[in-house]
Amino acid sequence: MVRENDFDGITRFYDFMAKLIFWDRLHRASIKWLDTLNTSDTIVVLGGGSGKILKYLAHVKSVIYIEKSTKMIKLAKVSAPENVQFICADFLKYALKSESTNVVICPFFLDLFAPIQLEEVLKKIARILKKKGSLFVSDFQYTTWWSKQLIKLMYAFFRITTRISARELAPLDKLILARTFENKTYLPLKDGMIFSKAYTKVNRD
Ligand SMILES: C[S@@+](CC[C@H](N)C(=O)[O-])C[C@H]1O[C@@H](n2cnc3c(N)ncnc32)[C@H](O)[C@@H]1O
Repeated sequence: MVRENDFDGITRFYDFMAKLIFWDRLHRASIKWLDTLNTSDTIVVLGGGSGKILKYLAHVKSVIYIEKSTKMIKLAKVSAPENVQFICADFLKYALKSESTNVVICPFFLDLFAPIQLEEVLKKIARILKKKGSLFVSDFQYTTWWSKQLIKLMYAFFRITTRISARELAPLDKLILARTFENKTYLPLKDGMIFSKAYTKVNRD
């Protein structure tokens, strides 16, 4: 069976490559809003990779870390704080209670999915978030001509190495806002090609 979005083969190089191309910008985008979290918050991290953000979550009540790659999870466990529960699973297949979490964090995770899967992912995130819960997203977006070329090159690379599901980068911000979320805060990096945003879940009844 062909495994999509399979990062096991590039676990050892992923962080190195990200740093080589973007310096510390991806990391800065991923940790941007974490100091606004409350000690009473329950957090779900999706596709957190090697766990670089975990040390910034040591003060919250609990963290559920859902990561599909066994090798990434192994790395993340090395220096994780005690409040983290590791789940090695596909987020779309793992059962989570409705309205059970204060914050969902997606660090360079949503860009992996093809449009239909992305709809499912966003629907599930909205379902597990409590009323007025937050969604933190760090990811890419097209801005300049150069950003488009670089992002296309990255998709070609990840298609070969990880069999990434998405064929191209979806307009993530637009799709998130079209669901039950509204903007809270925004940080653009590298001419806006990298963004970090906090959204609030709203009821649109
Ligand atoms: C592009 S990497 C980002 C890693 C990390 N967040 C970072 O910024 O360095 C995407 C991560 O999502 C994980 N992943 C892919 N599909 C997943 C799924 N369906 N459920 C949970 N994790 C998934 C991959 O194993 C990989 O570690």
